[in-house]
Amino acid sequence: GTKRGAGKIEVAEPRNKLSHPPSSLPTDAVLYSGPFPFYRRPSQLGYFSLDAERQYHGDARALRYYSPPPTNGQGPNFDLRDGYPNRYQPRDEEVREGLDHLLRWLLEHRGQLEGGPGWLAGAIVTWRGHLTKLLTTPYEQQDGWQLAASRFQGTLYLSEVETLAARAQRLARPPLLRELTYMGYKFEQYMCADKPGGSPDPSGEVNTNVAFCSVLRSRLGNHPLLFAGEVDCTDPQAASPQPPTCYVELKTSKEMHSPGQWRSFYRHKLLKWWAQSFLPGVPNVVAGFRTPEGFVCSLKTFPTMQMFEHVRNDRDGWNPSVCMNFCAAFLSFAQNTVVQDDPRLVHLFSWEPGSPVTVSVHRDAPHAFLPTWYVEAMTQ
Ligand code: A3P
Ligand code: MG
Ligand code: MG
Repeated sequence: GTKRGAGKIEVAEPRNKLSHPPSSLPTDAVLYSGPFPFYRRPSQLGYFSLDAERQYHGDARALRYYSPPPTNGQGPNFDLRDGYPNRYQPRDEEVREGLDHLLRWLLEHRGQLEGGPGWLAGAIVTWRGHLTKLLTTPYEQQDGWQLAASRFQGTLYLSEVETLAARAQRLARPPLLRELTYMGYKFEQYMCADKPGGSPDPSGEVNTNVAFCSVLRSRLGNHPLLFAGEVDCTDPQAASPQPPTCYVELKTSKEMHSPGQWRSFYRHKLLKWWAQSFLPGVPNVVAGFRTPEGFVCSLKTFPTMQMFEHVRNDRDGWNPSVCMNFCAAFLSFAQNTVVQDDPRLVHLFSWEPGSPVTVSVHRDAPHAFLPTWYVEAMTQ
């Protein structure tokens, strides 16, 4: 403000902050190191399955059952390269599904949502994987992201858009990386059975169209959330058999030999594992460590709620509060930016490491992502 009595008239703030939200959001970790924000214990609202042809089913047919190898004497000896490439049916990544499967679930269950009338109108609807990327943003130094946002009947929908760099990388993916991706799914096949109490059958195909997705409700700060996430398996012997606490996330990682390798694993990989499993309340991540030849010879369970302990005293570690505070700040930023309720209007939030999040505005194709079938059915 200007000093009184200096011959000038006191001027009010030129802009109303609410009608003119900031046009960018910084992502520096130091800005988000407050106390851990409120995060509601995630509860499962429902689930759906995608079959080998990527067709939607409103049931749990794709859910698999955790079936680790017997712990008698020697450890496992899983050949993760077995079946590659002959028994690999990779999902077609050119197909842009956006939020479609989640929207189908939502359309079929919108009448039975808990939280009272109007809960959905105040909620944010997205994929768990999109939220994972938001959580890790303050520490990400490699990959940027783009999130498209539309408001419709009050609800804010967030759907990721593949960046040009990510697309270029995907199309130029070296054969060795393609095989590494296969190996991650092959590990799941060695660790899961189709029926509770059954045994894994590693002789079959690895088809990455198949997925079981849990639909969850939570809240971050004052942001009610409805999101879906792929679940690797459920543990029939879990101490708490109620989803999502019976779910198990499976991961592979390089075998480590030096303290420096472990430190780097804690700083980088464990952050991503934590963010992915903390959001849906999945309590354990079971890691298979692979040799350079692609054999998993050891397993280790990482409880999600204990992952931070590995970096708590590390100056170059990550902090769950920073992740969650940034995510909450982004959701507020998005809520304040996307003011118009219009399913054909898209605010595109773009981020590259080293820069703040920026916004651009678009209408209709190619950015609009809420399908006509959804908008029309919701308008009935
Ligand atoms: P890993 O567990 O070895 O990472 P998820 O762990 O989320 O259940 O994913 C299962 C597998 O999908 C991963 O195994 C990896 O092989 C593959 N995958 C997941 N995200 C990927 C990505 N961004 N790029 C390449 N492959 C990915
Ligand atoms: Mg998975
Ligand atoms: Mg997994």
